[in-house]
Amino acid sequence: MLNGPNLGRLGAREPVIYGSTTHADLVRLCVDTGRELGLDVEVRQTDHEGEMLGWLHEAADTDTPVVLNAGAWTHYSIAVRDAAAQLTAPLVEVHISNVHKREEFRHKSYISEIAAGVIVGLGVDGYALALRWLAANAR
Ligand code: DQA
Repeated sequence: MLNGPNLGRLGAREPVIYGSTTHADLVRLCVDTGRELGLDVEVRQTDHEGEMLGWLHEAADTDTPVVLNAGAWTHYSIAVRDAAAQLTAPLVEVHISNVHKREEFRHKSYISEIAAGVIVGLGVDGYALALRWLAANAR
């Protein structure tokens, strides 16, 4: 599970939009959900685009499914999209907020066209739902 910029500040960051769950809470939620589903879930977050590219390359080289919330990179980073396009296992795109109800610049995603599916606007529950789908479809 890969989270991009500013997602490490969950809980403190614009709680009206992103809720009060912290990134540490999110890690627990995902690891626990994974355990329940028989998945070994690793959650990473970075504010550095090159680090994210490296993690996507690693997932491509190891045929590992990815749940990706690329944060703001979603809307403009062709480099993140090109790295995600190299994945051989499914990718599920997640956004905590409903980006389609927000500013127009958030309506475009460079990731959606190469994602197996997209979950937006369901808060941090979207990550758990993505894991459920992967558990059923990505083995
Ligand atoms: C986000 C939505 C993006 O537009 C924003 O830049 C984020 C978080 C979400 O999870 O709702 O950082 O990806």
